Amino acid sequence: MIHIAIFASGSGSNAENIARYFSKSETVKVAVVLSNNRNAGVHARMKKSGIPSFVFSREEFAAGGAVLAKLDEYDTDLIVLAGFMNKISAPLLEAYPGKIINIHPALLPKYGGKGMYGMHVHEAVVAAGEKETGITIHYVNEQYDEGTVIFQAKCPVLQSDTPEMVATKVHALEYAYYPKVIEDLLATFLS
Ligand code: GRF
Repeated sequence: MIHIAIFASGSGSNAENIARYFSKSETVKVAVVLSNNRNAGVHARMKKSGIPSFVFSREEFAAGGAVLAKLDEYDTDLIVLAGFMNKISAPLLEAYPGKIINIHPALLPKYGGKGMYGMHVHEAVVAAGEKETGITIHYVNEQYDEGTVIFQAKCPVLQSDTPEMVATKVHALEYAYYPKVIEDLLATFLS
């Protein structure tokens, strides 16, 4: 069995969608969820899905030790970031080289970097009059949103679209593609 650990700081709708996608798999499972936010909606969603979730402080994520021990406890093969608001520290990057991926709600390199998260991204996309936006799934490195791109998908932005409407379209792309891209990536682990 290949074990995924999901890192999430917010509502956790992607975490739940990924967990659901693999719930019947005989080769892959979401083993554990880690968060830096004890009030994050992701905990209730994971409770419902029967997946353990744990909270670590910003300092613990930065230092690595306790987080790495938890990842080890759950035999983690791949770390999937889904709305995780903390930078990934060097100890984690060293322990999981090429095994940490993230989803960004825009077409990187556009609308990435510090401060570009959540609705800020969609507001910037609408304000710039973009005709399209989308999702980027990429490897994680030391820099925000700068790791090698694995996959992108696009959706149109209409002149009448509000940032909220763009967010809905982008979320739909995330739900449709993130689990599948993870599955394809993990297939390379097995071969
Ligand atoms: C998603 O839009 C993701 O792209 C971004 O944060 C959001 C998380 O939403 N990085 P949710 O917590 O999965 O509902």
